[in-house]
Amino acid sequence: MRVFSGIRPTGELHIGNYLGSVYQWIKLQDLHECFFGIMDYHAITTPFEPEKMEKNILDTLIVYLAAGLNPKKCTIFVQSHVKEHIELAWILGTITPLGELKRMTQFKEKAKKHPEYVNAGLLNYPLLMASDILLYKTDLVPVGKDQIQHVELTREIARRFNKMFGVVFKEPKVLLSEGEKIMSLQNPKKKMSKTDDPKGCILLFDEPEEIEKKIMRAVTDLGKEIKYDPVKKPGISNLLKIYSIFSEKSIKELEEKYKGKGYEQFKRDLTKLLIKKLEVFRKKKKELEKREVYLKEILKKGAEKAEKVAKLTMKEVREKMGLEI
Ligand code: AMP
Ligand code: TRP
Repeated sequence: MRVFSGIRPTGELHIGNYLGSVYQWIKLQDLHECFFGIMDYHAITTPFEPEKMEKNILDTLIVYLAAGLNPKKCTIFVQSHVKEHIELAWILGTITPLGELKRMTQFKEKAKKHPEYVNAGLLNYPLLMASDILLYKTDLVPVGKDQIQHVELTREIARRFNKMFGVVFKEPKVLLSEGEKIMSLQNPKKKMSKTDDPKGCILLFDEPEEIEKKIMRAVTDLGKEIKYDPVKKPGISNLLKIYSIFSEKSIKELEEKYKGKGYEQFKRDLTKLLIKKLEVFRKKKKELEKREVYLKEILKKGAEKAEKVAKLTMKEVREKMGLEI
């Protein structure tokens, strides 16, 4: 099966991004033919700093590699290096009613957050995402919960194209991970997001002192029981979920272990665990930052591999539409 996913290079990644995406990609590279993009053309739909873009792209690649993606087993590339993404996005735009784009939750949320920056690219974001996915005739799209709506729209667009012009595309399915939604440490009712609340986020490149500070200051709930109950105890439940995924222990096991112990002990152990588990990111960053040529070579080879597949699909699309002369 084919797998496609990607993240936007918008700066340092947090454990929510990681658990919701890259973490689950690692297993997939051994089972399927995988394409993992660094979605730079998506990143420019919200305010960004041009002078930081290259660094953000390379940092995202470092995260992919530190997490365990192996460029020999999967294809890693930068979205803008494969021009077919834009070409297909244009075509998909011509068969997608405006209303379908306007009702997307992410569009509405981002438009509200940056009222001075509601550009047509932000509205068309899902078309480019559909293009990313459909170009590779993808079967599975491993993403966090917030992206389900976009994959649903992608299926709708694929169905419509196939009906109008003949079958080219597959209808992709979402693959959700257990870290589908990690909440902010400061406000466990909201998702962890760097732009909304940096103190509520643990970044993958955070130093041990920062991890400690953020966990020890994380919001907890009334009472002192360590119990999973997202409605009554959203703070502790979120921490338990993070603990459980990183330690590969079930939540039940953890509840058992911390019976009769207070929040303080639990937080201290979680801090220790995270410092240890995130060490690989800090280490790899220091090591790979100096190897820019190596990093760029991975991206170049990745783009070449991706382009081969993308070109074939584009040819089919153009043929079906009577554009291949
Ligand atoms: P983004 O940084 O918005 O491009 O997101 C990259 C990936 O991380 C997507 O698959 C999102 O679904 C996922 N993601 C972002 N924030 C969270 C979160 N708080 N919890 C779980 N997954 C998330
Ligand atoms: N929109 C996704 C996000 O914000 C990133 C993304 C772009 C993506 N194109 C994609 C994810 C294609 C999966 C498949 O997280």
